[in-house]
Amino acid sequence: MKMKQGKRLVLFSLFVMNLVDEPAPEVAIEQGILSGKISRCGTFFEYIGIPYAKSDNNTRFQAPGPPPSWKGVYKAVEGYHMCPQKSFFGIMGSEDCLKLNVYVPVNLKDQKPLAVMVYIFGGAFLFGNADKIVYGPRFLVKKDVILVTFNYRVALLGFLCLRTKEAPGNAGIKDQIAALRWVKKNIAAFGGDPDNITVFGGSSGATSVSFLIASEATIGLFNRAIVQSGSSVSHWSINRKPIWVASLLARTIGYNTEDPKVLYDIFSKLDYKDIIAINTKKPIGMFNDNTLIHKPCVEKYIPGIEPVITDLPYKIFENKTKDLDVMYGTSSNEGIFLAPIQSDEMLESRNGRYLFASDLHFSSEKEAMMIAEKIHKFYFGDDEISSKKILNVSKLLGHLDFEVPAIFETEYLLSRSKSKVYNYVFNYHGWRNFLKLNTGFWHEDGATHGDEVFYLFDGDLFPMVFSMDDRKMIEQLTLLWTNFAKNGNPTPEWSDLPFRWKPSAKDNLQFLYIDRESKMGPMPSPEGYRLWKDIYSKYRRTDIT
Ligand SMILES: *[C@@H]1O[C@H](CO)[C@@H](O)[C@H](O)[C@H]1NC(C)=O
Ligand SMILES: *[C@@H]1O[C@H](CO)[C@@H](O)[C@H](O)[C@H]1NC(C)=O
Ligand SMILES: *[C@@H]1O[C@H](CO)[C@@H](O)[C@H](O)[C@H]1NC(C)=O
Ligand SMILES: *[C@@H]1O[C@H](CO)[C@@H](O)[C@H](O)[C@H]1NC(C)=O
Repeated sequence: MKMKQGKRLVLFSLFVMNLVDEPAPEVAIEQGILSGKISRCGTFFEYIGIPYAKSDNNTRFQAPGPPPSWKGVYKAVEGYHMCPQKSFFGIMGSEDCLKLNVYVPVNLKDQKPLAVMVYIFGGAFLFGNADKIVYGPRFLVKKDVILVTFNYRVALLGFLCLRTKEAPGNAGIKDQIAALRWVKKNIAAFGGDPDNITVFGGSSGATSVSFLIASEATIGLFNRAIVQSGSSVSHWSINRKPIWVASLLARTIGYNTEDPKVLYDIFSKLDYKDIIAINTKKPIGMFNDNTLIHKPCVEKYIPGIEPVITDLPYKIFENKTKDLDVMYGTSSNEGIFLAPIQSDEMLESRNGRYLFASDLHFSSEKEAMMIAEKIHKFYFGDDEISSKKILNVSKLLGHLDFEVPAIFETEYLLSRSKSKVYNYVFNYHGWRNFLKLNTGFWHEDGATHGDEVFYLFDGDLFPMVFSMDDRKMIEQLTLLWTNFAKNGNPTPEWSDLPFRWKPSAKDNLQFLYIDRESKMGPMPSPEGYRLWKDIYSKYRRTDIT
C-alpha cells in the first residue's frame, strides 16, 4: 500500500514536471480509438495530428481521399505536422499532411455539448500550418469552446489549377472542406455540438472562409463564420490565369508549354520537394495587382469531380447567398504591413501604371487613364508616388485589398439573405501587435493586418503577455469571438461587456471599433469606400480570365 502511494507520488511529480504526459480520455470515432493528453497548463485536453483525410502523390493536385482507419489506439499526442512549404530551415513538410488538432477544455461546467470553433490559418496560400507554435488554444478554450485547427495544402500542391480531371484546381480548399466534414461527423465524440460550428480565419484564411461561405459544397457544414481581414470578392483572391501561372512555373525549370496535359505530366512526376523549390516571380504588370502566385481558381465542370468554386465569388454572392451569421472585420491600418515589401523601384514605377487591379475592365485606354488619375488624386494629390509616400500607398492598398472588399461582401449578404452581419475595426495597439512591430511603422496609429490573431491565440512562440492592457484585450476579444460562436451574438443581453455590438443593417453599416474601450461607430473610410464602390459598380470585370 505504502509502496503504491509512493509510486503515485513519483508519477504525479513527473506529470507536474512535464516529464510524463498525463493521458486525456480516449475518444472513439469511426476511424478507430484516439488517445490524447492533458495540456502542460492543465486546462485542456489536446489531440494532436489526427488524420482527417488522405493526401499523397496519388491525390496530388486533387481533392483528398478519405481518412485512414487504424487498429488499436492512435496516439494523437506528438508531432509537428505541416504540408510541404518553404521555410527558414529549407523545404519542410510531407505530402501526407492532412492532420488536425482538437482542443477540449478540461473543466466542463455542465454536460451540454460545447460550441466548436474551427480556425483556418493564413499565409498567402503559400505557407503556414496549424501547430501550437502560433495557434495555441489556451485563450479560447478557457471560454468553454472546443477549438479545432488543421493543415491544408498550400503553394502549387494546394493550388495548381489546370481545369482538367487530374488537376481541377483548389485542392487546398477541398482539404478545408474535408476538415469541416470531419468535424461535423466526429466532433460530438469529443463533447462538441455538431450544430454549433463556427469557421474563422485570418488573411488568406479569411479569404478561404469567404470562399466557404460562397461555396455550395459547404451547405450544412457550419453555422457561423468570422472573416478576419480577407474576402473572396477582393481582386487578389482568384487566380484568373491559372494555366499561364502553371506554365510560368514550368518555364523556370526548363519546360516551354501551355498545354495542361503536358504541364500535369511535368508536375506529377516531380518529387514534391522539387515542386516546392520552384522559384518564380510574377512580372509586375500594368495593374496594381499583388504578386501572389498560388491562389484559388474558378473550376470547370468535369464529370465525376465535385467543384467547390464554380464562378467568380462576387457573382455567386450576387445571385444567391446562404443565410449565415457572419462577423467581418479589418484592422485600422491594414496596409502598413505591405510597406516593407514595396521597393523604391516598385513604388516609382507605379506612376506609369494603373492604380487599380486587373479585375476591372474599361472600354478604352482613355477611360482607364481617367480613372487611374482619379485614384492618384485621391491618395496622392498632385504628388508623384515614391518611398516618401509610403503611407499613402499603404492606405490605397489597405482599402483596395481588404477594407472595401469586406464591405462589399457585407452588402451582398445583407441584401440577399437573412444573415446577420457584425462588422468590426480592430484598432488596438499593444505589445502583441507582432505584425505591426515588423513593419517599421510601430508609431503609426492602430493595428495592422493580422495583429488581432495574437490576442486570440497564445502560441508557443509568443507565450508572454506583457501588459495588463494586453491581458484585457485578450479577454475582450476571446469573449466576443466565443459569445458569437455560442450564441450568434458577440454581446448577448446578459453579457457584462460595457458595450453592445449592433449588427449592420442593409442601409446602415455599423462597426465596432475594438480597442481599450470598444465602441460603435460609422464606416472607417467612407470616402475611400465611395471611390471604389463607384469604380467597381461601373467597371468590374465580368469574365473569368
Ligand atoms: C510517390 O510515393 C511513393 C511512395 O511514397 C514513392 O515511392 C514515389 O517515388 C513517389 N513518386 C513521386 C513522383 O513523388
Ligand atoms: C443563379 O442561380 C440560379 C439558381 O440557383 C442558377 O440557375 C444560375 O445559373 C445562377 N447564375 C449564376 C450567374 O450563377
Ligand atoms: C498622404 O499621406 C500623408 C500622411 O499620412 C497625408 O498627410 C496626406 O494627406 C496624404 N495625401 C493625400 C492626398 O491623401
Ligand atoms: C447551439 O446553438 C443554438 C442555436 O443557436 C443555441 O440555442 C444553443 O444554446 C447552442 N448550444 C451551445 C452549446 O452553444
